[in-house]
Amino acid sequence: MKTYVTGAVSALSMIVSTSAFAEPTAEVLHYWTSGGEAKSVAVLQKEFADKGGSWTDMPVAGGGGDAAMTALRARVLSGNAPTAVQLKGPAIQEWYEEGVLADITDVAEANNWEAVLPASIAGHMKCEGTWCAAPVNVHRVDWIWANAEVLSANGIEMPTTWDAFNAAAEKLQEAGIIPLAHGGQAWQDATIFEAVALGILGPEGYRKAFVELDKETLTSDAMIAVFDQMRIMRGFVDSNFSGRDWNLATSMVMNGEAAFQIMGDWAKGEFMAAGKVPGEDFLCASTPGEGFLYNVDSFAMFDVDGEDKKAGQQLLAELVVGQNFQKVFNLNKGSIPARTDVTLDEFDSCAHLSSEDMKASSEGGSLLPSYAHGMALRGAQAGAITDVVTAHFNSDMSSTDAVQMLADGIANSM
Ligand code: GAL
Repeated sequence: MKTYVTGAVSALSMIVSTSAFAEPTAEVLHYWTSGGEAKSVAVLQKEFADKGGSWTDMPVAGGGGDAAMTALRARVLSGNAPTAVQLKGPAIQEWYEEGVLADITDVAEANNWEAVLPASIAGHMKCEGTWCAAPVNVHRVDWIWANAEVLSANGIEMPTTWDAFNAAAEKLQEAGIIPLAHGGQAWQDATIFEAVALGILGPEGYRKAFVELDKETLTSDAMIAVFDQMRIMRGFVDSNFSGRDWNLATSMVMNGEAAFQIMGDWAKGEFMAAGKVPGEDFLCASTPGEGFLYNVDSFAMFDVDGEDKKAGQQLLAELVVGQNFQKVFNLNKGSIPARTDVTLDEFDSCAHLSSEDMKASSEGGSLLPSYAHGMALRGAQAGAITDVVTAHFNSDMSSTDAVQMLADGIANSM
């Protein structure tokens, strides 16, 4: 009996010792491959290594994450999920429903996430009451970026209406300057589209159209006006826009080849990485209209074997929502912290504007999930909208046909 008990005790101590002291390891799938993004994710890699973690990087190039999500599906279907994945919005719940996510509730509760995250963010990180993702930041999508010198030299102010934007763009075009730097990729077309839609439909109209999929709003005269404005925007891009990566479009504004870019504030990460100064070298302003389109990056941990990987997931989740990471990462990334208790003293004027506008829009009911960046809808519905937006932008499709295609596409995606 004695031998049996001793054997059981030694086996138990081996299990405890293995799990308690397993070196944290993580293979991390993400799509932060531009200059500013790479600098940002390096912050997490360093913090992870400083805590004894072993990070295997799995970057998948391609802005907006479409390629990364394709790679994720292939890995999961082959039974070889990454340890952690840059995953956000309803896609988190979609993967949870596949039964492949790890529960990180213990980390969330031990670190009191509930108290330091806005409800609008915490809600995206939960799956049936458990915590299933760790939030990294708050990106604002509805921004206009501009080359300060180009605007000053042409006597142009940052536009506060779409009519003013069109007038400024026409003046710039006459001066031989590309008004709008753009990358002709579907997600980038969708990024411009949702900013225009927010401005023309208003916050409530945007919510009805892209959160509630209200058919009347989707086929309304106001939605036709949105596509009319998109047709005008198409006339402001250069002839080589097709397929251009977003960060190359940002570079066109940086070097004065183009005046404006409509893009999320990951674009600010490119300006900052190039040593540009907000308010001096470049300007930031919300796109015309009321409201705030948010895009919250997060990491989901996948259900993988190995005490080392489970330890890596616990460590990653804790670091991602940690105060230091939330400050240093977001200073590089162009976003603002997801945590509400991180001081913005070291952040720039654009970040302060974002934080102030986020608070005001949250109080005013105009804080809205970005549909283009996967925060508002599940993949099938978001994809149906983007298919119409990019088809319209790259053809001579009429606005009337576009809204009909929109309604049909969404109906077929349900
Ligand atoms: C967004 C993502 C950002 C940035 C951007 C460009 O979807 O949330 O963090 O990566 O795409 O790739």
